[in-house]
Amino acid sequence: MNGFKHFLQIIWMLAWIEWAPGAVVAPPWADPKLNPCANEPRGWQLLYWPPDGKCYKIFQLGHPCPDDMELSPAATTAGAIQKLSAECKCPPKTAQSARDGRCYELFTSGPCEKGHYFGPDEYSTNSTVRRQWGICKQSKKCGKTNEVFWPKDGKCYDKLTRGPCPRGQLLTVGSNDKLAVCKCNDKYELGDYNYGGGKGCFQHFTKGPCTERGHLFLPDKTCGCSEQLPHYHNTTKMCFEIGSIGPCDIGEHFQLDATGNRGLCVCKKNNIRYKGDSKCYRPYTQGPCEAGDILVNATSCISNPCNKSHLFFPESQRCYRIGTRGPCGADRVVTFDFETRPSVDGISYNGVCGCERDTGCFVKSENECGDREPDRVLFRKKCYKLYTQGPCSRGAWILPKRAKKVDEIWTEKKSRDGYCDCMPGYTKIIRTKNERLIAECLSPTVRLAEYLTRNFVN
Ligand SMILES: *[C@@H]1O[C@H](CO)[C@@H](O)[C@H](O)[C@H]1NC(C)=O
Ligand SMILES: *[C@@H]1O[C@H](CO)[C@@H](O)[C@H](O)[C@H]1NC(C)=O
Ligand SMILES: *[C@@H]1O[C@H](CO)[C@@H](O)[C@H](O)[C@H]1NC(C)=O
Ligand SMILES: *[C@@H]1O[C@H](CO)[C@@H](O)[C@H](O)[C@H]1NC(C)=O
Repeated sequence: MNGFKHFLQIIWMLAWIEWAPGAVVAPPWADPKLNPCANEPRGWQLLYWPPDGKCYKIFQLGHPCPDDMELSPAATTAGAIQKLSAECKCPPKTAQSARDGRCYELFTSGPCEKGHYFGPDEYSTNSTVRRQWGICKQSKKCGKTNEVFWPKDGKCYDKLTRGPCPRGQLLTVGSNDKLAVCKCNDKYELGDYNYGGGKGCFQHFTKGPCTERGHLFLPDKTCGCSEQLPHYHNTTKMCFEIGSIGPCDIGEHFQLDATGNRGLCVCKKNNIRYKGDSKCYRPYTQGPCEAGDILVNATSCISNPCNKSHLFFPESQRCYRIGTRGPCGADRVVTFDFETRPSVDGISYNGVCGCERDTGCFVKSENECGDREPDRVLFRKKCYKLYTQGPCSRGAWILPKRAKKVDEIWTEKKSRDGYCDCMPGYTKIIRTKNERLIAECLSPTVRLAEYLTRNFVN
């Protein structure tokens, strides 16, 4: 029976909460009607804690919360009345483990066994005041021995490369297993990559900390260039990072030649070298051609065969109107080739089949979304990829809705529906606007504290 009541509450919340487009408003706990502590000096920083009737500083770790949790505002609904209460929550970027109730940093090994990491539990809709729960998930096995697993995006990266790390840090493994961490220090293997002076750790043969053009970060931990290196470009007599634009023209990048001993400028992927002026261009753009013409291959410009608002499909040698079904399959339409960047490549007249919006493909029936694309769910009759922002407001993402009631029995059956909720580390604030509930995700504490200080002090 409790489960059913809870179910109704969730449905009620989901039906009435709107997602505001990132508007900044006074937080509800600054309202004395909702928060008895708001009348005290600097009361906007205080929350009422019902168990002892006292006011405590918001977002503070420890007492009255356990030492690893912080006091947070929580909106609850009793019938149709909105109420504010306080709860103890894990700080941003951490989640609570159901095993011992403690908070652990997400995407680290946390309380988990070897070969596992602590990740957000997408299915925990247990309480109306949603908590961020974490569970131990199995790490992916990487193909190559030199690779390490980065749980945040589920990908494997080469060890001691920058990968997804901030500038000045490299990927290495944590103390207990193959879980990747971004680090820079002077110990063990990282020592060879540490430029020193607090400038950070960098891959060798990248620009790294080097400021002079044509210099690379070398294995002896200096910045320099040598004729012996494959990174040497003999016309400019400088060294460049492989894969960067280096000394090359637009449409080219600096790559190793077939022998692997010499760097040279070659056309970027999907570009072709036009014999006439020997530069590289993206096909189906104007490139070196006269106005109104498009480049079709290394030797020829043709007059653009398509009328306004139409794009060219090379396979069928035909033009189709943008936004129509054209030659595309179900729920796909004729769109621009988004891999082409107009500022760099010029406007492309190459048509591709794509989703109507880059956030997701429109589908007519629920099954269509579920069967074909298991990592997509329906939200407001459209199909979106899970764990992306999709149509949700800032700080929120699409999560799968699991709860489903079948024949009065509370089941854990997975449905194909999704909903918007705050990403880990963001705080959900629910307030009323024009007699409707609006939910927003406020980014981690620091920014909130800044905002409060700016708006409510003095
Ligand atoms: C739901 O939460 C309550 C208390 O918050 C707890 O006692 C219960 O075990 C939880 N249920 C599940 C399935 O996690
Ligand atoms: C530069 O390299 C190219 C290709 O290897 C070679 O043909 C050319 O002679 C070199 N030029 C100089 C100045 O070394
Ligand atoms: C390049 O395109 C032109 C015009 O479509 C065509 O006549 C020519 O055969 C093509 N050349 C190559 C090498 O494909
Ligand atoms: C372009 O538009 C004209 C006039 O509307 C039409 O006659 C012609 O067939 C169109 N060409 C293409 C390639 O669609």
